[in-house]
Amino acid sequence: MKIDWQIAPVSDWQVDVLVFFGMEDSPEPLPGFERWLNAQGQWLSGSSVLRDFQGKLQQTAVFYGPPGSKVPRILLAGLGGEEKFDAEKLQTATAAALRKCRELRLKRVGLPLFALHGLSVPVGKALEETLIGGLLGLHRFDEFKTREVPSSETPGSLVLLDENEPDEDLRAAPHFAESVASGVCLARDLVSSPSNRVTPGFLVETAKGLAKRFGFRLDVIDSERARSLGMGAFSAVAQGSGEPAYLILLEQVPSTPEKTAPLVLVGKGVTFDTGGISLKNRDQMDAMKQDMAGAAAVLGVFETLGRLKAGGHVIGVMPCTENMPGSRAYKPGDVVKSLSGLTVEVISTDAEGRMILCDALTYALKFQPAAIIDLATLTGACIVALGSEVAGVMGNRETLTKEILDIGAGVGEKYWPLPLWDFYFDHLKSDIADFKNVGDRSAGAIVAGTFLKQFVPEDIPWAHLDIAGTAWADKELGTAPKGATGFGVRTMVELVLTWPELGIR
Ligand code: BES
Ligand code: MN
Ligand code: ZN
Repeated sequence: MKIDWQIAPVSDWQVDVLVFFGMEDSPEPLPGFERWLNAQGQWLSGSSVLRDFQGKLQQTAVFYGPPGSKVPRILLAGLGGEEKFDAEKLQTATAAALRKCRELRLKRVGLPLFALHGLSVPVGKALEETLIGGLLGLHRFDEFKTREVPSSETPGSLVLLDENEPDEDLRAAPHFAESVASGVCLARDLVSSPSNRVTPGFLVETAKGLAKRFGFRLDVIDSERARSLGMGAFSAVAQGSGEPAYLILLEQVPSTPEKTAPLVLVGKGVTFDTGGISLKNRDQMDAMKQDMAGAAAVLGVFETLGRLKAGGHVIGVMPCTENMPGSRAYKPGDVVKSLSGLTVEVISTDAEGRMILCDALTYALKFQPAAIIDLATLTGACIVALGSEVAGVMGNRETLTKEILDIGAGVGEKYWPLPLWDFYFDHLKSDIADFKNVGDRSAGAIVAGTFLKQFVPEDIPWAHLDIAGTAWADKELGTAPKGATGFGVRTMVELVLTWPELGIR
């Protein structure tokens, strides 16, 4: 879907449908609608359909103008109750509206900017969220469907309508929204794609593509080099698979002459997690193609930053491998030496995420980062604790954790903090090595976070995002079809863009 502008008097607006938002129980239930009625829509003012529309979230109502109307249809899209209104509701309502337009096969959808006035968010932000919600809500992964009409055909364009030339802020919104949505959709597509397509090598190719398009620096460490560098934990996981493993490093170097400490984003890239020798149950093992969602999110962030040409010094570190029970696979009871020098006794080969992440975290230290954030589909326990719509946040700075919570709330991604108190380390005490890779079943998400914490010095702000639940949705969400969500991209983009103002150290 393209985003266009038409700046013209109301009477000249020409679209297949005009969208207005509606609120439940609000003194001004339909922002901007009066204005259009007065200018154009007298045919509508007496319609009883207006009374049937309650403004419930995701509710839509379509009504038709008399023959010959330049605007033959009006679509009302519900935002829900006024007191619960936030940016996410706007995304959800727009997604519902545009899905309705797709169902009706409408090509040219109009959005009057005055429909966004009078909401409790500034118009610029409202427009951004509307556009992002619309683009994300329409996104489908249908690459492998050969028998269906590609879903990208309708709506062909969303036309932003105004009578006067909009200010620069508003003018910039479409490019911002398209950049963000492209990043989220790249992450989604990578996660949706099966593991026989998205191998570690495929992720390398994707990173190469980004580096080429946007001028990022790229370094790819293959398993041989990883081994010789001393990444014993990453290599242990990689050696069970015939598919070559890679540690991908992608760097956006700012053009400013002064050197700034980079923000490092680490993403778990297990392209398929069988559990290894600690083999997973056969039920729903296919879902384990999603185990590279952390790396996909990091690549998504780079897609967005590249398009925006913004964000300063950022480095992505993505350890990518399959976790397979091959003949050379690492085994329960093995002891491996990580890049940090710390030794790990492997109790479960299914706790492979922390094994590859610990070496990635240690490697990240050499960039003298301003902060490290890791994203990983790390534990089923996090899903048990928080469900599949909330990601767990752990770390060593309350300021950073809080910032992630707040940014997430502003863009429609939910996070909740879990503690990393020192005593949790008791779960990881080993008789023969520095520690084990798993404890018993209790506090599984926290114990995984505690494992990672061993590899991050206190003086570096660090946050760990467990996205095991949120990377994939078993049902359709407001702005995502059933399946991969692209979770994390939006929060990380916003964190990167606002980082200089946050003052976290
Ligand atoms: N990739 C899984 C975690 C996961 C589960 C992601 C469900 C997405 C959905 C991870 O590698 C894993 O297997 N974790 C184990 C840890 C256990 C061995 C301590 C788990 O959660 O069971
Ligand atoms: Mn696993
Ligand atoms: Zn895993």
